[in-house]
Amino acid sequence: MNDQRHTLILGSGGREHALAHQLAQSEHVGNLYIAPGNGGTLNRATNLPDVSPNNVNQVADAIEKHDIGLLVVGPEDPLVNGIRDELAQRFPHLAIVGPGKHGAQLEGSKDFAKQFMARHGIPTAAYKTFTNAKDAQAYIDKISGPYVLKADGLAAGKGVLIINNAEEAKSAVVDMLEGDKFGEAGHRLVIEAFLDGIEFSVFAAVDGKSHVLLPTAKDYKRIGEGDTGLNTGGMGAVSPPPFVDDALMIKVEERIVKPTVEGLQAEGIDYRGFVFFGLINVGGDPFVIEYNCRLGDPETEVVLPRINSDFGELCLGIHNQTLHNYEIDILPESAATVMVVSGGYPEAYEKGKEISGLNQVHDDIMIFHAGTARDGDKLRTNGGRVMAFTAIDDHYQRALMHAYNAIDKVCFEGIYFRKDIGFDLP
Ligand code: AMP
Ligand code: GLY
Repeated sequence: MNDQRHTLILGSGGREHALAHQLAQSEHVGNLYIAPGNGGTLNRATNLPDVSPNNVNQVADAIEKHDIGLLVVGPEDPLVNGIRDELAQRFPHLAIVGPGKHGAQLEGSKDFAKQFMARHGIPTAAYKTFTNAKDAQAYIDKISGPYVLKADGLAAGKGVLIINNAEEAKSAVVDMLEGDKFGEAGHRLVIEAFLDGIEFSVFAAVDGKSHVLLPTAKDYKRIGEGDTGLNTGGMGAVSPPPFVDDALMIKVEERIVKPTVEGLQAEGIDYRGFVFFGLINVGGDPFVIEYNCRLGDPETEVVLPRINSDFGELCLGIHNQTLHNYEIDILPESAATVMVVSGGYPEAYEKGKEISGLNQVHDDIMIFHAGTARDGDKLRTNGGRVMAFTAIDDHYQRALMHAYNAIDKVCFEGIYFRKDIGFDLP
């Protein structure tokens, strides 16, 4: 293979471990590095623990030192801060998967995303943007609840409040706009209409002109069973969600994905990366809840294992604008993943707990590490979300059963996981 490139993945979560797993199998990938990586990624790639994805100079040094030809950016922060623009200038031949600063605004600013959708007729909840609490309160008086309040900027998935009571919503508005509830991100506020339906996630690889749809997924964000309690980074996922049928996907592609890709192109935004469409099915019609400028976590841990075709080729196609030639081969089976987390997460939790039992887990289970670190020959917890257990079978319920059986073999102090992933699916 002549176009084999040494590859660097930025990030340290389960998503990045799944990316490493997939890219390690690619004919187009030479040496594989991950910065900073975690206790699991080093089985697939060389960890660069001293390189922070948010430090462009450190990333640039690593690119030079390791002769990197393909860079895959996992998380949103470096993209929203413009890592692509800066590195593309310094390394004209580097293939970068991830949009520039302008395109990343789809995730970096709710207001930008809403205006973009309005310009291109993409279905989403009606909204208004505020910087002044009095105006926002007057708007709440005019509309009916539940009230959906969104911090404009990045808030690590925690910037959305859904409040039934108008008085509570009005006081939350003051906390956001005048206080520091979400820091800077909350000083501009989007209030939008509440949409009632079931959520799902669609992912597209985009090369600026064409797109390739990846497998669909549904994630489980709340910490508690029955979707209760605080929001987390994600506690599990299923791919495909059984209610996402062909008829719904045709609407998604025609009404949402194509107008998004065409809209980006029409506005001169050279978007080369992944678009994550957070969607909601309202009576058979899809609406956009949010855009992200990257793959989801833990959705990636079920989406990527279902892709049989060469993922390195897909990444290079994003850069070379050759996605129209890429034929994606998707496994018809279902994948399910369950995240095990540290007791206390998403609030305060302890780190450094020894993890045992992984060697008892059957080889068919894919274990994607998130918050783990090596300590000599031991593996220890090193974050809130610790590991995702992914299994594949012909029905998602069977896949889940395999994942849960695997988790039963694993132990660390304070281990917690939701036992009801998929509970709401037919
Ligand atoms: P976001 O950060 O925009 O994805 O919002 C976080 C969560 O809030 C979503 O996953 C939904 O569960 C919920 N949400 C956001 N916007 C709406 C809306 N307009 N109607 C109903 N639920 C929403
Ligand atoms: N699982 C949701 C996210 O990655 O934002």
